[in-house]
Amino acid sequence: MKPLEWVNGNLRFLDQTKLPNEEFFHETNNVDIIADAIRRLAIRGAPLIGIAAAYGVAVASFSIDEKNNYKVRNKINEAINLFASTRPTAVNLFWALERQQKILNRWNSSITELRSLLLNEAIKIHNEDAEMCEKISLAGVNLLPENCCILTHCNSGILATGGRGTAIGIITKAWELKKLKHVYIDETRPLLQGARLTAWEMNKNRIPATLIADNTAAVLMKQKKIDVIIVGADRIALNGDTANKIGTYNLAILAQYHNIPFYVAAPVSTIDSKINNGNEIPIEERNANELKEINGLNITVKEIGVYSPAFDFTPYELISAIITDKGIIHPPFFNILLDSDKVENK
Ligand code: MRU
Repeated sequence: MKPLEWVNGNLRFLDQTKLPNEEFFHETNNVDIIADAIRRLAIRGAPLIGIAAAYGVAVASFSIDEKNNYKVRNKINEAINLFASTRPTAVNLFWALERQQKILNRWNSSITELRSLLLNEAIKIHNEDAEMCEKISLAGVNLLPENCCILTHCNSGILATGGRGTAIGIITKAWELKKLKHVYIDETRPLLQGARLTAWEMNKNRIPATLIADNTAAVLMKQKKIDVIIVGADRIALNGDTANKIGTYNLAILAQYHNIPFYVAAPVSTIDSKINNGNEIPIEERNANELKEINGLNITVKEIGVYSPAFDFTPYELISAIITDKGIIHPPFFNILLDSDKVENK
């Protein structure tokens, strides 16, 4: 199952808001529909958002009927700006858009040529992500004890990436290699990516898994049911501070108290070379109704105020290692980008 695919000139994508009840695919060549799908989390997960936006820019080029290259350039720039405005935290989005921007800046031939350049770059970003997931998974399993129980938060699997996933990629690889005993899944309030999406992926892979309310994690750790915690990332600052789904920071604090390794798994494209520490990471705030309602039904009083950041950042001191496609970066972190180069050179 691929959550996103280029099929006969259209982007075909799974509407993740309908999971697990319905596996519904949209097929579109409309830029606004793709941007809206990212905004409303029909397409989500840091790497997949970047991949979708890269295809979205290619889609924009197919809808331009223009002879003047200056005007073509303006229209593609408009599409890039549209995608950049969809979600602020996942750096993979801006990384993928920068790659398309470079293609546009270098282009000086026909619109037909530009279309194929942008589409090829999107396909390349997609394929590269699948490869990075494999590398992360292979590196990550080496950190796991035999027959281990893993706790994960949110969704970082096939639904969030171009391949088998990051944190969940490690989990499925560990299952294949018979190193995994059980997975515990945080439900991940308010949008339930754990309950709706990770549980669905575990079920598809026939991996033994148990869903827990987010506030059950501490009790499980105290009961010694968790050997390792692995989460994905939306943006990693140069000092190692890591933004991920709201609630990740809570888990990291609990992990330290209970002496459980806390691992972050992400491709190097999730490291933001312009951000020194977590305080500089832009954190998306979601609409109040996502917290006040469940399936359109009020669960609180209309008048109540809401604070709903979609992400938090976990300080680097709480992270036991960062598992990347270049290898495993162990603390003390110095500059994560430079650290990742050293890992590769080893
Ligand atoms: O709001 P979402 O569902 O896009 O948030 C996703 C996460 O926080 C994931 O853990 C993260 O993007 C890593 S996915 C490989």
